[in-house]
Amino acid sequence: MDEAGALSYVARGLKPELLPMEIAPMLRAATDLLGVGARLTRRRAPSRSAQNLPPMLPGGVPVLGHALELRKDPVALIQRGRDMFGDVFGMRLPGMQAAVMTGHKMQERYFRLRDDEVDQREAYRFTVPVFGEGIAYDAEPEIMREQLGFFHAALRESRLRTYAQGFVEEAEGFFGRWGDEGVASMVEIGNELTIYTSSRALLGKAFRDQLSGEFARLYHDLEAGMNTLSLFAPRFPSPAHLRRDRARALLGEMIGGIVARRRAEGSDSEDFMQTLLDSRYSDGRALTAEEITGLLLTIMFAGHHTSGVTFAWTGAMLAMHPHVLRDLVEEQDAVLGGRTALTLDDLRAMHKLEWTIKEVLRMWPPLIMLMRKALVDLEFGGYAVPAGTVMFASPAVGQRIGSIFADPHRFDPYRFGPGREEDKRSPYGHIAFGAGRHRCMGLVFAQLQLRALWSHLLRNFDFALADPPSRYVMDYSNIIAGPAPPCRLRFRRRAGARR
Ligand code: HEM
Repeated sequence: MDEAGALSYVARGLKPELLPMEIAPMLRAATDLLGVGARLTRRRAPSRSAQNLPPMLPGGVPVLGHALELRKDPVALIQRGRDMFGDVFGMRLPGMQAAVMTGHKMQERYFRLRDDEVDQREAYRFTVPVFGEGIAYDAEPEIMREQLGFFHAALRESRLRTYAQGFVEEAEGFFGRWGDEGVASMVEIGNELTIYTSSRALLGKAFRDQLSGEFARLYHDLEAGMNTLSLFAPRFPSPAHLRRDRARALLGEMIGGIVARRRAEGSDSEDFMQTLLDSRYSDGRALTAEEITGLLLTIMFAGHHTSGVTFAWTGAMLAMHPHVLRDLVEEQDAVLGGRTALTLDDLRAMHKLEWTIKEVLRMWPPLIMLMRKALVDLEFGGYAVPAGTVMFASPAVGQRIGSIFADPHRFDPYRFGPGREEDKRSPYGHIAFGAGRHRCMGLVFAQLQLRALWSHLLRNFDFALADPPSRYVMDYSNIIAGPAPPCRLRFRRRAGARR
């Protein structure tokens, strides 16, 4: 049974006895979990208006509340709430009291909250089966802070130069093998390419050179095992979760093997694995092989699919907006003047490409909802948000608010250019990378990677949509949202272009 099936069986009130033998234990596990939610909800008896709680979104079904609607189209759900109630409203989800905050004032308040007021760890516990026990959101706050510090070390300026070189070489190698013309499935290509770029930067060139199809397949199962059901029941034995757990165990063995070899033989590689091997906690303790594996998978997870789907959306949006495509091609000529050896400084000089990627992320952010759990009683826009509430911010809805971004449903990269700079109107308006103390650490890495891949394509190929525009829509089946596959583009190599 897939996750939708598991959720809707419960929603329709079906009893485990009526289900096939193998489904009953899964359902019992889910109803146990959801029962906890129902009990918690029952305990919060006083009326919402008496406590001045945020207005509750109508609709939903018993026990599951709005979970099915959230799974189907989370953006429509949150937009419905915003249209009805404005910046703050409540929704019902299994096992949690939930509130949604949008609009730049509420977003600012949300992202400025301190770690002793809100907790990401509780809210993101569903990541534990992927990242591993004792890693990131499963670690004690102090340990998690230190682990995030290791990420900082890996993403610092001096490393970016090496990574950027890797991005450029990967783009040349990959697209150099394309034929003169054809149809490209951009979601698949984005995911494949970013496995190469991120595994090279994070696990090392030697690992990348031997990258097996098996690693890519297992990694795919790991990512696909994080879906809406995982939010509420991360250990529920659905087929996707079982595949995820198997993949996690095998990837752990693979990466653990490399860690052991590196420890035995030593290495002067400039990759994240080496950063972790050389790092120490503040008490002088070295990281265990399990911690290194977990942190590698964490950072890879943070940066892989997010970048892959942004790569694909960039292609679709450019093909739909030929005037922007034309400007970007001209920018390539202006920056490179016919040179083909790209440097980090060249990538940094591609401002129009930078705004384009920023605009793609404004319209189609891969993380459509961010989460925090209130540790203390809070107040939002005059409403009480009691301790224990799970609070959602939504880049997908929050970045399409007309008071921050003019004509917000229009693709217009120049809104970030000189004279307009709409992103500066509110530092909490563009939140595709989050904001405040937990803003994405990989922002520059992601931007440079996407610029390197698109710079190559812009210089060497012409593009057009391969399907009617109505086929290019968001797919919410994964926790990281991207264009519904295949997201096909027709391409043709330009006369005189490089191979
Ligand atoms: C287009 C690509 C990406 C997008 C849209 C994205 C988005 C985000 C967002 C929204 C957050 C904040 C989550 C929250 O506030 O709850 C975040 C955090 C984070 N991201 Fe990214 N990310 C991307 C790429 C990357 C890459 C490439 C890396 C690393 C190589 C990375 C590493 C991280 C880390 C370590 C955090 C946690 C920061 C903290 O909690 O202090 N991300 N990302």
